[in-house]
Amino acid sequence: MKISKERDVSTMMKFLCLLAFVLVFMASAENPGRATDTVDAATGEALLHRACTVCHTSENVCANLGRDEAWWQSTLTRMRQQGAALSADDVNSESAYLAAQAPGAAPICK
Ligand code: HEC
Repeated sequence: MKISKERDVSTMMKFLCLLAFVLVFMASAENPGRATDTVDAATGEALLHRACTVCHTSENVCANLGRDEAWWQSTLTRMRQQGAALSADDVNSESAYLAAQAPGAAPICK
């Protein structure tokens, strides 16, 4: 009797741990969405198609997702020198947008 009660408690604890894990996971999974909300994702995506895919596909952009904003700033400044139609403001907002994208993120990576 005592043993079976202990097993019930242990099963209950496992279930609660699993539930807590799932809830924490769900809460953290929402964060990337919120982070990109601060930079307008639709604007960032539109700019990418207007100003970047003139010369190359978004494949090399996709390959570099996960890099920080400073890297994107210097890369986009370089793209601008090569002739990309970007204002200084565009470089800033697009760097923030790209730095907020997780590696492999859609729709940049297809
Ligand atoms: C005028 C043509 C042109 C435009 C427009 C352009 N690029 Fe590029 N991009 C290049 C060339 C050429 C290279 C390869 C040589 C180099 O890295 O400078 C390149 C390389 C890259 C790379 C790889 C850099 C590395 O160091 O590995 C990334 C990332 C990139 N471009 C992103 C962008 C983004 C984002 C935009 C739009 C804001 C953009 N490019 C617009 C010409 C362009």
